[in-house]
Amino acid sequence: MDNIALGTNTELTDDQFYNRDEDISWLKRFLESTSDGSPPTIMVTGIRGVGKTVLLKKIKKELDEDYLVCYIDLSITSGYQKGELTEIGIMNEFYDCWMKECERKGISTLFKKILKSSKRTLGLREIVDIAGWPLPIPQTEDDYKKLSKFVFHLPQEIYEEQSSLKGTILIIDEFQSIKDLGNALKPFIWFLRGIIQSQRNVAYIFSGSVTSTDKIVTEIASNEGAFGGRILTFEVPPFTKETVREYLNERVPSLIFDEKGFERFYKCTKGVPFYVNTFARLLPKGIPLNDDKVKMEFSNSLTFLAVHFMNQWSRLTFQEQCIITKLVDGPLKRIKIARTLNKEPGALSASLRRLQDRGLLKNENGLYSITEPIFKAWLEKEYEKKGIYPYRTI
Ligand SMILES: Nc1ncnc2c1ncn2[C@@H]1O[C@H](COP(=O)(O)OP(=O)(O)OP(=O)(O)O)[C@@H](O)[C@H]1O
Ligand SMILES: [Mg+2]
Repeated sequence: MDNIALGTNTELTDDQFYNRDEDISWLKRFLESTSDGSPPTIMVTGIRGVGKTVLLKKIKKELDEDYLVCYIDLSITSGYQKGELTEIGIMNEFYDCWMKECERKGISTLFKKILKSSKRTLGLREIVDIAGWPLPIPQTEDDYKKLSKFVFHLPQEIYEEQSSLKGTILIIDEFQSIKDLGNALKPFIWFLRGIIQSQRNVAYIFSGSVTSTDKIVTEIASNEGAFGGRILTFEVPPFTKETVREYLNERVPSLIFDEKGFERFYKCTKGVPFYVNTFARLLPKGIPLNDDKVKMEFSNSLTFLAVHFMNQWSRLTFQEQCIITKLVDGPLKRIKIARTLNKEPGALSASLRRLQDRGLLKNENGLYSITEPIFKAWLEKEYEKKGIYPYRTI
C-alpha cells in the first residue's frame, strides 16, 4: 500500500521521509563544526506537526557514526506530565539519556568510569547500583547542585575520554516545556548558557513547537537574550504546494484529485506534514476527489486531525476551556472575555498565560485568538454536533 507515515510516527524509515534535503545539509554543516572545536548552538522552531522531531531524529541517525547524539523530549518527562517540571527532573532526564546512549554505543564502561572518578569531587555519599547501572543518590541541596554540574558536563567528559568521537550533540526537543520552571526559568537558562560556553566539543539543539517570535525564543536567542544573539535559529517551514503535489503523486498515487480538489486539500492541510499524512491516509482512494468531496471528508476527519489538541483540551481547567470557547467566533480583548465570563479581568491572567504557554492562544496587540485553525474547526464541529462544547471530558 501507499507508503506514508502515520501522523504520530516520529521514527520514519528512509522511504517514508520526504524532502528537507537542504535543511538537513544546512544543519549538518553547522553541527559538523563541532569536530574542529567550534560547536554551534541551534534553535529549531516551527508550528505543531511541521516535522521538527522527524527531522532531528533523521539528523541523529545520519551523524550517529561519528558523534554521540542524545535526544531528549522534555514534554514526556514525568515531572512535566504532572505539571511540575523541575531542574532536578531535567537533570535526571539528561543523566538517563547519556547513560542509555553510552550503552547503545557500547561505551557504558566509560560512563561508569567517569562517574566513579567523579565520586569524590561530587562528594556524594552514595551511588547505588540499579540493574547494573550506577545511580547517584543525592541527599542535600548541595549534593544536587554538584550532581547537576556533573550531569551537564558529562557530554564534554565523554568526548574527552573517547578518542573515536568527533563530538557530542544534545538535542532538547519540546524545550518550550521549560517555561513551566516559572521563577526558576531565568536562572536555569543562564546556568545552561554558562555550561554551553565552557564546552568545546558539545553542540546543542533546542527545538520546540513555537514560532520565532515566542517569548521563550527571545529570552534565549535574541540579542538581549541569554545567548546574546550567538545562537543560530532555524524555522522548519511547512511543505510548499508543489512539494505536497509531488509527494502525493509519488507516494499515494491512488488519490485522484481534480485541480480544485487538490487546492482544497492544500488549503485544509496548509502543507503541514502531520495534517498532510493524516488526511491523505483517511481520504478514499481510487475515486475522484473534487472540492466538495475534499471539504466534506475534511469535516469528517477533524477528530483525527485535531487529536493533539483534544489531548491538550482534556487537560485544561474548566475556566481555561471556557476562555477558549469564547474565542471560537473571533479574537477578543481580555476585558471582553472577562465580561462574558462574569469575571474580573485580573482573574483570567494565570489562565491566559498558561494557554499561551501551551501554544493554544496567541495575543496580538491585546487581542486574544485561537492559534490553530484546526483546533477551532474541531470545537465548532463538536458544538454543531452536540449543541454544547466538550467541556472537561471528551
Ligand atoms: N519529512 C517528512 N516526510 C514525511 N512525513 C513527515 C515528514 N516530516 C513530518 N512528517 C509527518 O508529520 C508527522 C509529524 O511530524 P513531527 O512529529 O516531526 O512534527 P513536530 O514538528 O515535531 O510536531 P510537534 O510540534 O507536535 O512536536 C510525522 O509523524 C510524519 O507523519
Ligand atoms: Mg515534535
